[in-house]
Amino acid sequence: MLRLSRRSDPPLDLLDEASIAAAAAHAGEGLRLVLCATGFLHDARFRPEKALRELDAAHLAHAFALNATGPALVMKHFLPRLAREGRAVFAVLSARVGSIADNRLGGWYAYRASKAALNQLLRTAAVEAARTRPQQILVALHPGTVATPLSAPFSKAGLEVQSPAEAAGRLLAVIDRLTPAETGGFFDHRGEAVPF
Ligand SMILES: NC(=O)c1ccc[n+]([C@@H]2O[C@H](COP(=O)([O-])OP(=O)(O)OC[C@H]3O[C@@H](n4cnc5c(N)ncnc54)[C@H](OP(=O)(O)O)[C@@H]3O)[C@@H](O)[C@H]2O)c1
Repeated sequence: MLRLSRRSDPPLDLLDEASIAAAAAHAGEGLRLVLCATGFLHDARFRPEKALRELDAAHLAHAFALNATGPALVMKHFLPRLAREGRAVFAVLSARVGSIADNRLGGWYAYRASKAALNQLLRTAAVEAARTRPQQILVALHPGTVATPLSAPFSKAGLEVQSPAEAAGRLLAVIDRLTPAETGGFFDHRGEAVPF
């Protein structure tokens, strides 16, 4: 297993396409599973918006760079390196709040919109891949609520909160059950389809 991050050797920084290309070259060919588990919700500068009046162009741009453009560039450089024969999976961690159909609460403009964009980018790549590589499976996954720095300020009592290890185990089990007919889909950690 190869784990890539900004601190790995070679490093992979979503904001630096050359680093993504170099990391993909390092990963080699014939990959069976690529999992993009990055994401951004908040940092010291930006908090999720509660109302339209809080919209900020720099926040939106940062969320799109990390949640949509970065993973799309990972697709650009890693999808050609998936195994060409037999089953191969590319999965990206998205979020249920990126679902337009499921948006009933509002708020979190930058996160929701950048995850919706991610889902569309993934879906578009899946349509393209299916034309020439019908065994490949490209999916967006919702991990559920997981105890990480991303969710820490927002975890509410009553929500089922998983440890990162539990969530990873569930997502890998979902990935194991996916078939090529499900490429381009959006699934939660129970394996249930999430509406776009
Ligand atoms: N936690 C939840 O409850 C929850 C719920 C729904 C969806 N998700 C989604 O699940 C995914 C993982 O979230 P998480 O909870 O693990 O969040 P997290 O603890 O904040 O981790 C974010 C990850 O993204 C990486 N990252 C950030 N900027 C990067 C950059 N420029 N280049 C490369 N990597 C970068 C971070 O790397 P470093 O370690 O180097 O900082 C870290 O590994 C995200 O897509 C998130 O939207 C999480």
